Amino acid sequence: MQVLRLLPVQEPVPELLVGHETSDDAGVYKLTESIALIQTIDYFTPIVDDPYMFGQIAAANALSDVYAMGGEPKTVLNIVGYPVKKLGPDILAEILRGASDKVKEAGAVTVGGHSIDDQEPKFGLSVTGLAHPDKIWKNVGALPGDVLVLSKPIGVGIMTTGIKRSAVSPEQEQEVTETMALLNKSAAEALQGFTPHAVTDVTGFGLLGHGSEIARGSDVSFEIALSKVPVLDGTYELASKGVVPGGSKSNHKWLIDDVDYEDISAEEQIVLCDAITSGGLLVSLPEAEADQYVEALKAQGLIHAAVIGKVIEKKDKLIYVKR
Ligand code: CO
Ligand code: CO
Repeated sequence: MQVLRLLPVQEPVPELLVGHETSDDAGVYKLTESIALIQTIDYFTPIVDDPYMFGQIAAANALSDVYAMGGEPKTVLNIVGYPVKKLGPDILAEILRGASDKVKEAGAVTVGGHSIDDQEPKFGLSVTGLAHPDKIWKNVGALPGDVLVLSKPIGVGIMTTGIKRSAVSPEQEQEVTETMALLNKSAAEALQGFTPHAVTDVTGFGLLGHGSEIARGSDVSFEIALSKVPVLDGTYELASKGVVPGGSKSNHKWLIDDVDYEDISAEEQIVLCDAITSGGLLVSLPEAEADQYVEALKAQGLIHAAVIGKVIEKKDKLIYVKR
């Protein structure tokens, strides 16, 4: 459910550059002519067994929304729900250490947080960042003629479900875990030299869900080439066995009227809708800049980065998937 729809309507505030109406990655508030405040929050239940890794992933995921707005993360607050009597303090200390290491890597600082006693562990962060008000990357503004670049592979939701069912190899487990823990810092920094028209990060609504938000808000349609989309090794195999998280299935369901899948198989459709934690940046930018940006991403070690499609004039559907 998109809880944002339940929010009461607010009086317009001129300083609010990005509010919740466009389902963007973070809120943006103009403090001065040269400084805008970027704020976001995200938390969830453990998605991997290793608490240190879980902390890193939760932090990379929360920090990502600031990167997706073109900002620099500055301060973070930890949000903790934890059954301390049941699990003891050591696991929580490892979660916090993982998050702290990622926050440090991001060049930000932890300023505090809040914890409650909870039956099931939950962890996340509220992140505050800064950017120039004229240099905010919104999730609207994509133009026909742009191409779409994705910086990290998809399939994270399906692969982590596979881990829970002991259906993935140790190598595959390592790959998906490292993918989630990887900051979008270098992808965002590399983008600073270009002129992106729309930017978001791929998370819970999946590649097609977040893509459809850009297309709808920009009044354009997308053409996505399935064969160009980077997908984690093992994802299609698991999807064909029905190892798919509920979130990915519900993404597929709510997107069904917005997407033309042509002859794409049911498993491939689900993979494109896979609900992701800490996914890559999805960028719409001029075609002339795309190859150079992808090269810059690869030079940063983002070896799966690719041009995955293009922006076209608005048609009947928001997204057309081709082979
Ligand atoms: Co986001
Ligand atoms: Co978010």
